[in-house]
Amino acid sequence: MISGSSALASSQAVTSTELSTAPIRKHIEAVIDDLLGSLPKPDRLTAEERRGIIARYTAVLEGNFIYWMTGAWIAVRSEAARSKILENLQEEVRDAHPLMMRKFAMAAHALPTTEDAMALHQKLTDVRLFIGRLSGVRIVITMAFFEGLIQRFMPYLAELARLQGSSEMEYTDVHGVCDVTHTEELYRALEVEMTLPQAHDAAPAAANLFEGVDLLGALISNIIAGSSAAVRQGSKSPAAAMA
Ligand SMILES: [Fe+2]
Repeated sequence: MISGSSALASSQAVTSTELSTAPIRKHIEAVIDDLLGSLPKPDRLTAEERRGIIARYTAVLEGNFIYWMTGAWIAVRSEAARSKILENLQEEVRDAHPLMMRKFAMAAHALPTTEDAMALHQKLTDVRLFIGRLSGVRIVITMAFFEGLIQRFMPYLAELARLQGSSEMEYTDVHGVCDVTHTEELYRALEVEMTLPQAHDAAPAAANLFEGVDLLGALISNIIAGSSAAVRQGSKSPAAAMA
């Protein structure tokens, strides 16, 4: 069904790849819908639970987003994917997005503690090791998921911070903008990337294209549920268990 990279460079190959990215996009959007649908209502959480979600989100995003985007840049082969990722990296660095993230957490009195960091340790490690395998197509799919999720998660994150007494919303304002052109370009880059042989993937067609999405989704659930995630592992996802 979803073919991985193909060495074919003909227009026929591009056409078949365009068809194969549609189910990828559909799956990503369904995973995002599920995650957002499982979020507990901010006003039904305690102040400490709200602080914990902001702190764990910050612990993941502040120090890892640029690192993972850099991994994507190293892994991809196509010029289309490279230029799209570079554009993202330039914006992150030029506008100091990690600083924006930190200001957001500080204003909500939610800088991550050691306990917050340790609650995420295993799931964060899983994502880091996945990125380290430098599987171009799978990383682009993962980053498409991440960007789509972040954008739609911003109103929720902003509401948590507001209930914690903060009015510092630059981070959520900047990341909550729905950039249709950007998303289209990202999927176009994925289409092109899928037509190329992958330097770091021995057999991408046989691999689970959504491995990164699954691992990152588990990390996001961990951000929402905190250290209770380990206890609640079972029939439901940690986030769903809280809803
Ligand atoms: Fe950013």
